[in-house]
Amino acid sequence: MTEAAATAHDPAEGPRPAPPKSDLFAKFAPLMAERQALLDTGLRDPFAIVMDEVHSPTLATIRGKQTILLGTYNYMGMTFDPDVIDAGKDALDAFGAGTTGSRVLNGTYQGHKACEEALKEFYAMDHAMVFSTGYLANLGIISTLAGKGDYIILDADSHASIYDGCALGNAEVVRFRHNRVDDLDKRLARLPPEAGKLVVLEGVYSMLGDIAPLDEMVAVAKRHGAMTLVDEAHAMGFFGEHGRGVAEAQGVIDDVDFIIGTFSKSVGTVGGFCVSNHEELEFLRLVCRPYVFTASLPPSVVATAATSIRKLMHSGNKRAHLWENSKRLHQGLRDLGFTLATGTAESAIIAVLLPDQERAVMMWQALLDEGLYVNMARPPATPAGTYLLRCSLCADHSAEQVERILAMFAAAGRATSCIE
Ligand SMILES: Cc1ncc(COP(=O)(O)O)c(C=O)c1O
Repeated sequence: MTEAAATAHDPAEGPRPAPPKSDLFAKFAPLMAERQALLDTGLRDPFAIVMDEVHSPTLATIRGKQTILLGTYNYMGMTFDPDVIDAGKDALDAFGAGTTGSRVLNGTYQGHKACEEALKEFYAMDHAMVFSTGYLANLGIISTLAGKGDYIILDADSHASIYDGCALGNAEVVRFRHNRVDDLDKRLARLPPEAGKLVVLEGVYSMLGDIAPLDEMVAVAKRHGAMTLVDEAHAMGFFGEHGRGVAEAQGVIDDVDFIIGTFSKSVGTVGGFCVSNHEELEFLRLVCRPYVFTASLPPSVVATAATSIRKLMHSGNKRAHLWENSKRLHQGLRDLGFTLATGTAESAIIAVLLPDQERAVMMWQALLDEGLYVNMARPPATPAGTYLLRCSLCADHSAEQVERILAMFAAAGRATSCIE
């Protein structure tokens, strides 16, 4: 039947019947039903928490209850740093609430350049590009660098923004098994030697809190002639002598071509960036769509970010305290009988594995009732179908708070039969 015949309508048959109404929500029905079933049990929605007041990097009021925060990315506690706040207020007064423009038109103020200078100094690299979020930095850099005929080789557990960067571009995508150097090597060896290749890695993988063997992986990538990009979102400020990340801690930062990062974690505000020693990075400002076609960060935000980044250069004591917190929490949770995602404390993220969604939500709510907020995470955000409670430590958690956190885990774990 031709298209014309299919749509032909004889007026003698009366009015044309209405076409079936599109239901674009239908594909979400199973997920909606699963969520409703969970809420019908009377448990609270872990994805709809409202912080009524935030008192410090480690304390908030949630539904009238004073709550310790153990589920933020505020690793270095910079959100309430007085110098950072003053810098934001000054910029708000001097430059107004927003730029109302793209970085390549009216949206680059001296504050954006100052922030890029701070990043260059922090990483000891020659070039820095500030984006409006870390998500946009990955989206932009990955999709612009790797084009048609090129290959992106990425860890299977990569962050959604890395996958979305691949989806936005035209390169071939090859995944290797999480943190497996041998698999990376094998897959690189199969690619055409002359093709452009970008290996994309993360310093810390945020769901399980495990770190990558960047030293070995960067060496393998180099051996195959590939460029490397490392997302240090969860490592900046904390790893390495200068807080530059896992690549610094493992001694390979000079071999990495591009570092991606965010201001939404250790820096304590919002924004994203790429730093590199390749001078061609400057050219990407003109062709990178997630840089060009969105508004730049407000002046107050870049001022807070620049101040925070400069303070993070000299935060060795805070880094040491954060490591102490992380090690104590890991050991304490293990002693209580919880199953943890890593054998030792590898980062500021300690992930507690739970057998199913119901137990995970029950435990999450029991902790909230005790006065402790952690992140609940579930597939597809988590690898291998795991349900987990993700604890993210802050350099501002006191040793005493960490002991209270452990006591709350003990009480909640027993009340929900997650531990004996
Ligand atoms: C590894 C990784 N990369 C990038 C991002 C995106 O950062 P932003 O919050 O600045 O968009 C995140 C955020 O969670 C992340 O975990």
